[in-house]
Amino acid sequence: MNAMDLDMEYKTNRNIPIEIRLMDCIQGMSELNDSSVDVVVTSPPYNLGIGYSRYRDDIPRQEYLEWTNSWIGQVARVMKRQGSFFLNVSGSPTDPWLPFQVLEQAGRHLKLQNVIHWVKSIAIDRGDMGNYQGRPAKLAVGHYKPINSNRFLNDAHEYIFHLTKAGTTKLNKLAIGVEYTDQSNKSRWKNAGKGLRGRGNVWFIPYKTIRMRAKDRPHPATFPVKLPRMCIQLHDTKGTDMVLDPFLGLGSTALACIELDVPFLGFEIDEVYFKETQKRIESQLAKTMPFDFKPES
Ligand SMILES: C[S@@+](CC[C@H](N)C(=O)[O-])C[C@H]1O[C@@H](n2cnc3c(N)ncnc32)[C@H](O)[C@@H]1O
Repeated sequence: MNAMDLDMEYKTNRNIPIEIRLMDCIQGMSELNDSSVDVVVTSPPYNLGIGYSRYRDDIPRQEYLEWTNSWIGQVARVMKRQGSFFLNVSGSPTDPWLPFQVLEQAGRHLKLQNVIHWVKSIAIDRGDMGNYQGRPAKLAVGHYKPINSNRFLNDAHEYIFHLTKAGTTKLNKLAIGVEYTDQSNKSRWKNAGKGLRGRGNVWFIPYKTIRMRAKDRPHPATFPVKLPRMCIQLHDTKGTDMVLDPFLGLGSTALACIELDVPFLGFEIDEVYFKETQKRIESQLAKTMPFDFKPES
């Protein structure tokens, strides 16, 4: 660690470590042992010119892809053999190839086991809803950033690439299962005893409605806490001894780990986001702690 780096370690009420480090993630991961991490969930900068407070999000494409190759190389090294890497990435209407270029770099180190579609907003016509009781006249839910264009569609979706070392990582699909709408299906399907079916690879996770962006979400590109939570549950919380997010942002993955009571380590280079993450972790822990707690630094 450099002199400017900062390391904060918190404990959940079951004494599970939640650690965040203010430092470059490639440097940070280089200090971790080989095969020491069960689950990596992250969303890197997409190099689409987003206005982060410190990181420059518009470097030349080749440089960005070489950097992508370096940090994913570190992720692959620290992942356990049966670990999971959930890589959230998106393009933009004028740069739709970006997710696939990032994926190509990942493919130099890992196998693509699943492609998950994170849907932020969806409209379903009544006629497509089936004969479910109480079906509404129509359904249009979630938020997206509207695009003022007669060429491009509003972007209501991002990718979550699930990458693993051998393509053989077993998943706990029913941990994020959904209830059968028609309970008579239960008897038809193996594993349906719990009344749940696998969710599949399309996940509808809307952003919460916020009133004041600068106060409620002071970062240009976060994912909802539910996203890392579902990834970790899908991998399986049982036997998960370490979750890593190399690009912490406002700490959404850290908050998911507190909810799930699994150990966490995250890196962030920006002090403003790091401080905000500290506040979020402390407030989340305060909700679950039966006594006052002090972070260790
Ligand atoms: C897309 S955001 C992550 C948001 C996060 N998933 C959340 O929900 O809050 C990417 C973050 O990576 C940080 N970052 C950029 N380069 C970094 C590096 N080399 N090491 C650590 N963090 C970095 C940026 O400051 C930014 O906060």
